Amino acid sequence: MERNIIVGLDVGTTKVCTIVGVQQSSSKSESELEIIGIGTHPSHGLKKGSVVNIDKTVKSIQNSVEEAKLMAGVNISSATIGVAGSHIYSFNSSGVVAIKNGEITQQDVDRVLEAAKAVVIPSDREILHVIPQEFKVDNTGGIKNPIGMCGVRLEVHVHVVTGSISLIQNLVKCVEQTGIMAENITLQPIASSRSVLSSEEKDMGVILVDIGGGTTDLAIWKEGSLIHSQIIPVGGNHFTNDLAVALKVPHAEAERIKINHGSVLAESLNQNSHITVQGISGTKAREVQLSYIANVLGARAEELFTLIKETINEKDLGNEITGGIVLTGGGALIKGLPELGEYIIEKPTKIGYPAPFGGMTNIMQNPKYSTVLGLLLESGNGKKVEVHNNNKNSEADIMGRLGDSLRSVFKEIF
Ligand SMILES: Nc1ncnc2c1ncn2[C@@H]1O[C@H](COP(=O)(O)OP(=O)(O)OP(=O)(O)O)[C@@H](O)[C@H]1O
Ligand SMILES: [Mg+2]
Repeated sequence: MERNIIVGLDVGTTKVCTIVGVQQSSSKSESELEIIGIGTHPSHGLKKGSVVNIDKTVKSIQNSVEEAKLMAGVNISSATIGVAGSHIYSFNSSGVVAIKNGEITQQDVDRVLEAAKAVVIPSDREILHVIPQEFKVDNTGGIKNPIGMCGVRLEVHVHVVTGSISLIQNLVKCVEQTGIMAENITLQPIASSRSVLSSEEKDMGVILVDIGGGTTDLAIWKEGSLIHSQIIPVGGNHFTNDLAVALKVPHAEAERIKINHGSVLAESLNQNSHITVQGISGTKAREVQLSYIANVLGARAEELFTLIKETINEKDLGNEITGGIVLTGGGALIKGLPELGEYIIEKPTKIGYPAPFGGMTNIMQNPKYSTVLGLLLESGNGKKVEVHNNNKNSEADIMGRLGDSLRSVFKEIF
């Protein structure tokens, strides 16, 4: 039996993570997917989800890929990569075509998707995804797959994700400098949704909130379709920076305090509890009240949840979200975040962990791996047998690969 090697590569603001999976090519089911290699390495070349230093980014990717390759004992030539950053802009669109022969074919579906895509976007932007939400045949809506149906008029409603051509090219360039072809480019919160959300949640209406280091990524689902996506340029690093400033401590010490002692709920803490913090070098260690730390982190969390609430109100999605809010990403792990989110947004809120599958070790069941596991699942989606990299891929190929990711999301929907 042929074995497919599939790879998810998440180039994040705080870490680069590579996961190698093996899939029996006779089966496309996700349960047959097994993880055989993992590599994580700190990332230093990104700011708010975008590459700002090519050399540092390439180094981090190289290290993470080498580690994963070594563990898996296989060579890697291509990967599904995730994209985020504040340059991402998404909107909903629709298209209509006349059906030629009375019965809808794949060609009609392709044509109507083309029509929905034909919107004016600035010349420095590219379309990353065109994701069908529902089809309408004549006047009947709510159709997920119209192929084979009879009618004279086909309409589609889609969610379109666009991003800056040059920022996407920078990311692809970094990946390809390590000898890996970026065969598929997926919006990060779409990937995280795949590994974290159940189909019931996506049907009911749910907001996925992936709090990373540099950005918080939203994906809002209803009736199984993506209805809104957005990248908010506030992430876990901002919480750490706030603490570093407020406590006058180095960044590394602020990070340690946030992870080990941080909370966003000052009221739930004993007013007398203190911890010892190490100030900048040369200064004496000091005592700091835990409730003071919680006030600093709580203010940032409140800002973030308020932004999310404003998005929900602006898009008038309040009544659509009956499944609540799912927080994931490493930044979701600060104590008290779900409680505060529930209080501010007034929706049931929980932490979302990636669903386990074959070969997955306990360490992977952490919200910070939601994106990379989703990218791996995406990579396994209707994949061909592994081909060897001939390094002939130029930036001009990006559009072809974006086309692939479009097709794979399309397949996922049906
Ligand atoms: N146990 C923890 N408690 C609180 N915060 C944590 C914990 N573990 C990780 N974090 C925070 O999570 C953030 C990193 O999350 P994640 O690994 O999901 O980001 P990333 O994917 O590298 O970044 P991005 O998605 O923004 O590009 C950091 O700010 C880190 O401080
Ligand atoms: Mg991330």
